[in-house]
Amino acid sequence: MDENSVAAVLGKLDFEIFVLTAAHQDRRNGQIVCWVVPATIVPQVPRILVGVGRMTFTRELIEASQGFALNLLGKDQWPWVAHFGFRSGRETDKFATLSCKRGVTGSPILRGTVGYLDCQVRTLFDDGAGAHLFYLADVIDGKIVADRSPLCLHHLPELLPPEDLATMRQLLEQDAQCNLALLSKSRYQQQA
Ligand SMILES: Cc1cc2nc3c(=O)[nH]c(=O)nc-3n(C[C@H](O)[C@H](O)[C@H](O)COP(=O)(O)O)c2cc1C
Repeated sequence: MDENSVAAVLGKLDFEIFVLTAAHQDRRNGQIVCWVVPATIVPQVPRILVGVGRMTFTRELIEASQGFALNLLGKDQWPWVAHFGFRSGRETDKFATLSCKRGVTGSPILRGTVGYLDCQVRTLFDDGAGAHLFYLADVIDGKIVADRSPLCLHHLPELLPPEDLATMRQLLEQDAQCNLALLSKSRYQQQA
């Protein structure tokens, strides 16, 4: 396999950027995600698939509550990429300076976004090997907040300040190394 050719094809894909939020009892948190895919074509039964890192604090709250909300960011909301994506809520209260309401699932709904989906977990896909797990969820509520352009992954190089862009690339590289170690280990175990 030519890794560069494969990366070139995957690089043509683009993804909208969301703040994935969840709450359980007196704990609440949010993280950036972009692996979000509609999982039905039936408007009466909306479902969504989202990929979440095994070790994130938000995932811990999703596991506890079996619910989450996806808050779709507007193009002008790029500062939230660093706020929700560069550090863990285990170290800092990401909602300390933000006002939000609660959705039907109890998950935080952020103000000023393009829109949100409130979701109840249906199935967890975990192959036991990768650093990411995939949640298939029923969308039980949702609303357009402001009808404008969403923030996408390909916008970030032109919008983020250079130091944020450098941080993002560094975090991505670190994550990729950890994920490679996990995936290589599982491939070796399969062959043995
Ligand atoms: C542009 C961008 C996209 C990201 N996409 C995802 C994603 O799809 N899934 C995921 O689990 N983490 C993703 N992350 C990483 C998490 O947002 C990050 O690990 C976060 O700090 C976890 O926070 P928490 O521990 O407070 O939940 C992304 C980060 C950035 C900056």
